[in-house]
Formats: sequence, structure tokens, C-alpha cells
Amino acid sequence: MRQIWPGQAEQVYRVCFPSRVRPCHSRRVRASGERDAAIPAALLAWYDLHARKLPWRAPPGLPPPDPYSVWLSEIMLQQTTTAAVAPYFAAFTARWPTVETLAAADEAEVMAAWAGLGYYARARNLIACARAVAAGGGHFPRMLEGLRALPGLGAYTAAAVAAIAFGERAAVVDANVERVVTRLDAIAVPLPLARKTLPARVLAMTPEVRPGDFAQAMMDLGAAVCTVRRPRCLACPLAAFCAGFREGDSERYPVKPPKPDKPARTGHAYWIARGDQALLVTRPGTGLLGGMRALPDDGWNARTDGALPPPLPGPWRIGGTIQHSFTHFSLSLHLAVYSGSDWASVAALPGAWWPFGQIESAGLPTLFLKAARLGMAQGETE
Ligand code: ADE
Repeated sequence: MRQIWPGQAEQVYRVCFPSRVRPCHSRRVRASGERDAAIPAALLAWYDLHARKLPWRAPPGLPPPDPYSVWLSEIMLQQTTTAAVAPYFAAFTARWPTVETLAAADEAEVMAAWAGLGYYARARNLIACARAVAAGGGHFPRMLEGLRALPGLGAYTAAAVAAIAFGERAAVVDANVERVVTRLDAIAVPLPLARKTLPARVLAMTPEVRPGDFAQAMMDLGAAVCTVRRPRCLACPLAAFCAGFREGDSERYPVKPPKPDKPARTGHAYWIARGDQALLVTRPGTGLLGGMRALPDDGWNARTDGALPPPLPGPWRIGGTIQHSFTHFSLSLHLAVYSGSDWASVAALPGAWWPFGQIESAGLPTLFLKAARLGMAQGETE
């Protein structure tokens, strides 16, 4: 038989037959102290049965994992799904099991291990943060202010580490939590503005005990029940408190302003191959994909199309185009394939020659890996 959580039968009754349920003060959907206190109780009871098992988590109610694991996972999870993060988390903790080992790691190796996770500024901040914590004795600060002062920790990550690793009562507001709370309170103000009020609302609901479980329960509820489309309100432990559900249109929240179109940029990447080897370069340390391995390119970026001349005169032919979406722009990257034979000039180019068989594991970010695959599909030259 399926397990039900405490109060579920009553709640399903309320949800299915709202007209038969006499309103009483504590069941009203408006924000109120009593309601805010009832929400964590219902949510934690649900979490005890339905928590996702994730490698960086302690099971519900048990002591938290070490702060290093919590911090590392939270940085990786910024803008990235749990499924994508899991193998990276396993690889990082196997290779660098403590903050001190990560602090002592070679920066290029960390960047290469991060390749594929995207948003590479996170990896540079990861190293800077590990070094700052190691320099201070290897202990993460437990309070929000100390955590906020570390590289790469914004309001969300600092609150998540404080709550999950240290049991501090902090407002953990990610996109899932925004969705849950804007629906609970039926906040009709569009998100950028509503965001200002959400931390206070989340803090008001966050319990003194198990604040870390509460934060993760909100995330799990957002991921599994209070989903962007077709939320499963009849299975929701918070439906009885939810103003959006009462209105019959929880999907309306959070209200979003119209999206501006992303600017479209174009650029070229250069595929220079000889036999079964190709030329890869390392990008300058700052800027987009800074410090990452890459193909030579014509200097495109978020603000301009590529305009630099090719690394040698040519001839070149176009071997295909890759469409890639960055946060603030989309890119059409044309792959220019060297079809000349001036091998003396080629040999003088900066960069390193990589056998095709090793290019998949060269630490190329996704865009350049796609470009290199297109290059390798052109076949060997000479
Ligand atoms: N996303 C960000 N942090 C998370 C966590 N601790 N568990 C699941 N998803 C998350």
C-alpha cells in the first residue's frame, strides 16, 4: 500500500471538496503567523517520505554532510540540474576530498574537470573560495555575513550553506522556492519586483528546527510537485495553504514580464588539423570562457561579432555552423577548416596539438567540444 503522510487524507478531502470544509482561522490561505508555522510542519512531514536521495545530502532529520560537500554541490547546482551535477560532484570529491586539497589543486586541472558544467566563472570562484577558506584554517564561516564575503557566494548560496551545513535559520530562495512561494501567496507582482519581498516571506516560514531540511524540502516540492507546468496540486502537502490553488490557477504564478530577445552574435572558430591531430589553444584568463581550452577563434563575445583575422592566411572552407545559447546572447559559430598546406606557418602558431582520440577529454567547454566534433568529422588532412 502507498504510504500517506500525516494529515494527507484530511487534506485530500479539503482539496477535493473545498465547499464542504468550513473555513476556520488556521486554514485561511492569507499570510499569517499561524499559517506560516503550519507550512513547515506539513512540508517536513512530506519531505520525510519523499526527499530525493542525492549524493551531497544527508537523509531527512540526520546530521548534515560536511560544509565542503554542501558548498561544492551548491556552487555546481547554480544554473545546473541535479542529474548533470551528480557525476561532477562524485569526480571532484574523489579527486579533491577536502577544501584544502581543492585549494592546493592546479587551476588548469580544476578548470578542465569543470568542463561541460558551463558558467565557467563559477569554477574560477570555486578555486578562489577554496583558497580563501584554506588560508583561514580550512573552516567555512557558519553565519551568513561570513559566507557572503567569500568569492562566488551570493545571497542564495550563502543562505543554502548556512541552513543546510550549519542549521542556521536563513532564507534560501532559488527558482523552485520562488515558484512555491509566489503560488502559496498568489503574488501577482511580476518576478523581478516580487523577488524583493520573497526572502522575508521565506524566512517567516522557515522553522527554527531543521531549516536545512526545510530549504531542501521546498526545492524538492518545486522540482516534483509544484512544477513550472502542470503542477500536481492534488498531491501537494501545502495545497490547503495555497492561495494560487484556491484561485484555481496556480500555474499563473510566478508572474513573469515579457522576455526581451537575446542578441544574436556570429563568430568563427578555426579547425587546423594535420594527420590525426588538431590545434587547441587556452583562452585568456578573464572574460567569457576565460582560462578554458578552446579552438582558435575570431574574438566574438557577448557584445560583438567576431572580427579578428584568421590565425593564418588560408585557404579556409566552412565545415558547418554551431548554434549555442549563452545566458545573454545566442551565437552562430561557423567552423572554418584550414585546407592549405603551409605547414611551416602552422607549426609557428601558438597552442598545443591534440590527437583526435584525446580531444573528448581535453577539457573543452561544450561549445568548442561541439566545434571540435564537427572538425573531426571532416576527416584527417594530408
Ligand atoms: N538545487 C540547489 N541546491 C539543491 C539541493 N541542496 N538539493 C537539490 N537541488 C538543489
